[in-house]
Amino acid sequence: MRDENRNSPFTPGSPVPVELFVGRATQIKEVIRCLNHVSTGRQENVFLSGDRGIGKSSLSSFLSRYASNKNDFIAIHVFLGGVTTLSDMIQRIFDKLLKNTSDKPWFGKIASLFGKFIKEVGLFGISVGFSPPEKDLKELVGNFPEALHHLIKAIEPNRKGLFIALDDINGLAEMPAFANWYKSFVDYVATHYDNFPVFMMLIGLPEKRDSLSNLQPSLMRIFRVIDIEKLTDSEVKGFFEKAFNEVDISVEKEALHVLLQYSSGLPVLMHEIGDATFLIDEDGIIDERDAFSGIVAAADRIGKKYLDPQVYRALRSNRYRSILRKLADQPLTREFKKSKVEERLNDPEKKVFHNFLTRMRKLGIIESDIEKARGNYRFVNEIYPVYIWMESQSASH
Ligand SMILES: Nc1ncnc2c1ncn2[C@@H]1O[C@H](COP(=O)(O)OP(=O)(O)O)[C@@H](O)[C@H]1O
Ligand SMILES: [Mg+2]
Repeated sequence: MRDENRNSPFTPGSPVPVELFVGRATQIKEVIRCLNHVSTGRQENVFLSGDRGIGKSSLSSFLSRYASNKNDFIAIHVFLGGVTTLSDMIQRIFDKLLKNTSDKPWFGKIASLFGKFIKEVGLFGISVGFSPPEKDLKELVGNFPEALHHLIKAIEPNRKGLFIALDDINGLAEMPAFANWYKSFVDYVATHYDNFPVFMMLIGLPEKRDSLSNLQPSLMRIFRVIDIEKLTDSEVKGFFEKAFNEVDISVEKEALHVLLQYSSGLPVLMHEIGDATFLIDEDGIIDERDAFSGIVAAADRIGKKYLDPQVYRALRSNRYRSILRKLADQPLTREFKKSKVEERLNDPEKKVFHNFLTRMRKLGIIESDIEKARGNYRFVNEIYPVYIWMESQSASH
């Protein structure tokens, strides 16, 4: 029997809790080495890159917890999505530093550095915020190294360093002002301080790393680049086993195989698929049928979240849409051959087919199948074709 009071262990859309964190052993080891180095007083700069949904924020949460528990650092993980000015960025960083330390015994020392710009927020003044006037923020942008230096001095007996992760810097990474600011920050530290135990980690899409290095070529010598990619089959399996086990649900072998296959090594899909399957199961045992129903439900959700806005709306042309449907009206496969699809297209569709494929590649929906000959393509994961097929079914009824 299944315990109906249990909540889903899956967290599509938010960083994974530590108990369910899998993989990334190499990257974690590398960062731990860095952190130990930082503990001796040397600043380190890391750029953590990877595609959307691959697990950057989750890894960052994991690492900041580690730095805080094992290295005795003050660790903050700041989300900068949508931030486009340096003042906003600085405000968020210091705001997070305050919030993060407000319950610590040494908070007084930090608070005194921030002086009158600390604002008590929340109903009972329980939480604190940092909101100085714009002109002071601007000054703080320029004085960032000194400000951190003062902070480090103030907390020295209690904490050994700072871990600062700047997540979703995609907007900032396209600004020359940000690239220059970062470069001068690092240069200033190198020429002014012997002891600067600060671990900085910028987090963004791989192309944002390129954009930063184009803006400020010497930045790429500064950053240690850490890339994360797909999880291995055994990591994905391990994840499903742990997650379902946590809510006392067992997974049959064939079912596990289905969940594994459609997850395509992508953490974001693994959570969507797990969650959908969890909702479908009624008896506490996931069998192959539950798994397939879960895939269909997840495909629908994933398609609505990622494909509808990106693809169906971007592909306004009716011709593109009908090609998409023809692509999926054959038995579902992840791989397809350009020439085979072409046979099923009418003349107007054939004319735009090449552009269609280029567009789909740019949108990140398909990729060239490099293991095969030219003209072979594949969807970037197993679940997109499921949705495209479902969409084409509903369109033809
Ligand atoms: N190592 C991991 N183990 C288990 N689940 C993960 C892992 N990394 C990411 N996830 C899950 O995958 C999804 C996307 O992860 P997230 O960290 O938000 O990716 P990103 O920041 O790269 O877009 C989330 O639902 C998260 O819970
Ligand atoms: Mg993220």
